[in-house]
Amino acid sequence: MEILPNYDLTKLNTFGINAKAKFFVEIKEEGELTELFESPIFQKNPKLFLGGGSNVLLTEDFEGLVILNRVKGTEILEENTEEVVIRAMGGEIWHDLVNFVVERDYWGIENLAYIPGSVGAAPMQNIGAYGAELQNVLENVEAVEVATGAKKIFKKEECCFGYRDSAFKQEFKGKYFILAITIRLSKTEKKNISYKILKEYLEKNQIEVRSPKDIADAVTSIRKSKLPDPKVIGNAGSFFKNVFVGKEKLAALQKQYPELPYFLEGEKIKIPTAWLIEKCGPASPRHGGASWKGYREGDIGVHEKQALVLVNYGGGTGKEIKNLAEQIIDSVYSKFGLKLIPEVNVI
Ligand code: EPU
Repeated sequence: MEILPNYDLTKLNTFGINAKAKFFVEIKEEGELTELFESPIFQKNPKLFLGGGSNVLLTEDFEGLVILNRVKGTEILEENTEEVVIRAMGGEIWHDLVNFVVERDYWGIENLAYIPGSVGAAPMQNIGAYGAELQNVLENVEAVEVATGAKKIFKKEECCFGYRDSAFKQEFKGKYFILAITIRLSKTEKKNISYKILKEYLEKNQIEVRSPKDIADAVTSIRKSKLPDPKVIGNAGSFFKNVFVGKEKLAALQKQYPELPYFLEGEKIKIPTAWLIEKCGPASPRHGGASWKGYREGDIGVHEKQALVLVNYGGGTGKEIKNLAEQIIDSVYSKFGLKLIPEVNVI
């Protein structure tokens, strides 16, 4: 383990923001944590844990210690004819874990294929896509407490999962190094293809789902067609969360905007934030009126195919993106009276 000073983080955040860390360390083995926790640099500095860097916006240099989790390993803990329990270390790449399980025909996380980021970051925001969420399969999260170095195992119920939310993003924020997750998957078919866009894609391409890999491949194609590849255009996926409203607010909005899309998710009514962003903003002849979609200002902007995604075309700064996000929040609020909440962790 080596703590390096003045470290460039450009390649470690998918927005590709040029920012530096005062100190930086890469952790490859669980055993290195003891040494890390005992070091004065660790004890005296603010800390930022990084996985894939796919859900952060760095608005300035980080005046502390950035800790990169690269602890690898995936193992099958137990299995029977119906189920399998898998433990994956936090530094694994999430999509590699999806590949590992779909190759073996295990059902449960195929809808979460091709989500950028690491395994350790997955429980932080309870990653979700195409009708599935990590919490549906998660058994527990193993984490090391920063203050004491003690290892703790949080059962699913203790993680307080919500929509793109968990205790690790709230009261446990910055207090734990996520070492591993354990998930329980099914060996028997459990396909979940009710998400509208996924269902339409399968129908249109006449794909009959026989294995979890069929779904993972479909989801991967959809994601590739809509979301910009961070290796080409810097981004962190959806910048904002979708909005949930009550019946009265929905009715009031529908009066004014009869074409407003909405989705029922259990008891809740989801309004796609991408639509709200698309329907307000500066003049945009291409989108038939005012729209943030496809908006560009210097090196930053709003993606042309997905209005939820803010992008850095190259030389953009974190401050510029933050400023654009604030303008979008204000304009959605003044038009629809809805307050957008960033999904991305703004540092
Ligand atoms: N829509 C627009 N304009 C757009 C894009 C979408 O109006 O530019 C509307 C359409 O009505 C569409 C609806 O939004 O039917 C939903 O779009 P989509 O299925 O693409 O999903 P989303 O709600 O925009 C969420 C997640 C994504 C996830 C997809 C698929 C959040 C914040 N985002 O986006 O997650 O991949 O569903 O399940 O919940 C991420 O978290 O980084 C991420 C990419």
